[in-house]
Amino acid sequence: RTPIWLDVDTGHDDAFAILLAAHHPKIQLLGISTVYGNASLTKTTYNTRAILKAIGKEDVPVYAGTAKPFCREAAHAPDIHGESGLDGTTCLPTPTVPVRTNKTALEAMYEALIATPKGTAWVVPTGALTNAGLLFATHPDLVSHVAGVSAMGGAIGSGFTDAPMGTVVGEGERFGNITPYAEFNVYVDPESAKSIISNKALAAKTTLVTLDLTHRFLATGEVQKGMLHGFDSSADSNGKEPSQVRKLFIEILTFFAKTYADIFGITDGPPVHDPLAVVAAFAPALFSDEGGERYEVDVVTDGAHGAQAVAMKSQCGRTIATPVLPGEGGVRIPKRLDDEAVWRMLDECLRAAEKF
Ligand code: BDR
Ligand code: CA
Repeated sequence: RTPIWLDVDTGHDDAFAILLAAHHPKIQLLGISTVYGNASLTKTTYNTRAILKAIGKEDVPVYAGTAKPFCREAAHAPDIHGESGLDGTTCLPTPTVPVRTNKTALEAMYEALIATPKGTAWVVPTGALTNAGLLFATHPDLVSHVAGVSAMGGAIGSGFTDAPMGTVVGEGERFGNITPYAEFNVYVDPESAKSIISNKALAAKTTLVTLDLTHRFLATGEVQKGMLHGFDSSADSNGKEPSQVRKLFIEILTFFAKTYADIFGITDGPPVHDPLAVVAAFAPALFSDEGGERYEVDVVTDGAHGAQAVAMKSQCGRTIATPVLPGEGGVRIPKRLDDEAVWRMLDECLRAAEKF
């Protein structure tokens, strides 16, 4: 099994990353740290514990990490995830196991990761990269110890000939989501993202799952039907009531679908970004390009940030990617995935969660 430490800002798509990491039989989930992002740290930590309760995995240790970037104010995404970070979920249970306080999140991450055999464990951030950046800055010995970092973050646009978000930023075009240039997780703390990507040894073992890929992984109506009843089940036709946990994950997709339709005009179904970073860590063969091409990536850290960013056409948080040849370093950016296989994998994990 692949050891994974998951670092989340639990909103709607992070919940699927937790489901996959906690229930896939080929993953050993070492623990979860939380970070501000979709909502405040207090809310994302609560949401993480509640999702673990819903899927019968409250034994996974949860540590609260950082509440803000170290040189910026925290930004949140209530327009996409609601005020709670996980709005629209009437089936969300109240967590019963408290967050761990016996050590800090960074200590817990380091101790769990350094205890794994060298070259096996992955750090998988699906929120702002603040915890991950601090981890490798505080414990540089981890860089050579881990198998890698697989982060959901960034948007590169160019290099994707049929990129759904557009390849050129001009009037009315965009490849980011928080601004026309920048993806949310990188935008909220670009310095932390840069600290990872500009560390050549760490970049060489980093995968970035960017919007260009995640916008190919849409929870369409057909997918939602499969997730509600089970992909190979005829339960919908014989009227069997779906389980609470399936109802919860459908509530999550329903809310997410509405905000993506309202804010971005994406009506085919919401892109479920975060579980793809887990997939890239333990099952890269599901990306038809065997895990992706390599790019030298620079993160723009200057320019307006906050309310004025869009009006001022700020490029802060943009990830500028230049292709590099194999053996010349850079980060891995997957471009193609077997989306049906990933949905089936998530369906299997829901089936496992239903047993609890
Ligand atoms: C990323 O931002 C968050 O809103 C999502 O959870 C995802 O990690 C997408 O840009
Ligand atoms: Ca996230």
